[in-house]
Amino acid sequence: VIPTIDDFTGQTIIVELGPDTYPIYVGSNCLDRLADAFLRHCRCRRAVIITDDNVNKCYGPRVKDILIAGGIETNIISIPPGESSKYLPTLQKVYDQLFDFSVERSDAIVALGGGVVGDLAGFAAACFKRGIKYVQVPTTLLSMVDSSIGGKTAVNHPRGKNMIGAFYQPKLVFADIAVLKTLPRRELGCGLAETVKHAIIRDGLFFELLEKNARQIIELQQDLLVDLVVRNCQIKAEVVSADERESGLRRILNLGHSIGHAIETVFAGGDYHHGEAVSLGMVAAARLAVARKLLKEPLLPRIVNLLQAFDLPTGIQGDIPVDDLYQAMLHDKKVEAGRLNFILPTALGNCTIVSDLTETQIKTAIASLAAP
Ligand SMILES: NC(=O)c1ccc[n+]([C@@H]2O[C@H](COP(=O)([O-])OP(=O)(O)OC[C@H]3O[C@@H](n4cnc5c(N)ncnc54)[C@H](O)[C@@H]3O)[C@@H](O)[C@H]2O)c1
Ligand SMILES: [Zn+2]
Repeated sequence: VIPTIDDFTGQTIIVELGPDTYPIYVGSNCLDRLADAFLRHCRCRRAVIITDDNVNKCYGPRVKDILIAGGIETNIISIPPGESSKYLPTLQKVYDQLFDFSVERSDAIVALGGGVVGDLAGFAAACFKRGIKYVQVPTTLLSMVDSSIGGKTAVNHPRGKNMIGAFYQPKLVFADIAVLKTLPRRELGCGLAETVKHAIIRDGLFFELLEKNARQIIELQQDLLVDLVVRNCQIKAEVVSADERESGLRRILNLGHSIGHAIETVFAGGDYHHGEAVSLGMVAAARLAVARKLLKEPLLPRIVNLLQAFDLPTGIQGDIPVDDLYQAMLHDKKVEAGRLNFILPTALGNCTIVSDLTETQIKTAIASLAAP
């Protein structure tokens, strides 16, 4: 007898997308219920786990055993860890192995890992034999609160990040918070940056909860983390359900990302991880909002302090290449008809889209990131 999700003590969020509606399960030490969840939502008895070598070492065999115990025939495909795997050559190798394992149209892929694995495995599923089912088992905080929700799948092209992809929804998302114990601290911070983003754009009370519990969160207090992941999922799911293809509301999820992406591009040596760049981008956006009188001045230090409590950067040491950063922003794929759309916070829990910022205003905000 395998443990079922009937007496699951975690929480379940439903992502409402008509015929593509699916559940997100969030709990602590619940991985052994994955087989039952898989059987119910995939309705097949064959799985291929796609993971990366780090995650495979920690959890691959365990997840495989759990699925096999549930009567699901299971194989593992493992890719090298890191963003450099999220390109077409790795995808080609994954397809080769799917053929080696004789994967059929009715079988399902289990994406076990962070956003790199989730994006690549999701895209592999979207195209293999014109689409097979897939399940997200996110193992980084970032993938639990952000990349596993919303159905955006992609690989990178040398000409641009996430440029080859599809909108393709999983059958279910299964997040066991306990796996975060092995996650490097810096990766945890990246998930917390997206968490702060969700709070700022949508939920002031959530922002206060983060302020009050920052230390316990960093120490991975399990109940708190379950609540944190759940609230993130609800916010992202709400926004995505209202606008699956990013024509309007979904753009608010880009708070901090215009300047953040530019920072990632210009400081290409990996000085800043994605969440760290987004942290800096949110500080700049908050300053722009204050300058435009959209955000009350005293709210700015609260945003900065919360990011710092999560060990995230809020300033850049040394010279800031303002012009390079501005140019990088103009080349971002989110630029529409030459207009830079900016998401600016108007309160803790609310934001607005502004498209008439001047070059000087933007450059001033970038320059303001100079660390004292
Ligand atoms: N699809 C979307 O909507 C969306 C949203 C945001 C980000 N993304 C994408 O997500 C990717 C980044 O994802 P990420 O931050 O999860 O990075 P990642 O997948 O590279 O994982 C970070 C590192 O942590 C390791 N790791 C993962 N889980 C672990 C665990 N439990 N214990 C120990 N080590 C573990 C991985 O091997 C890797 O080295 C980017 O490619 C980005 O484009 C996609
Ligand atoms: Zn992001």
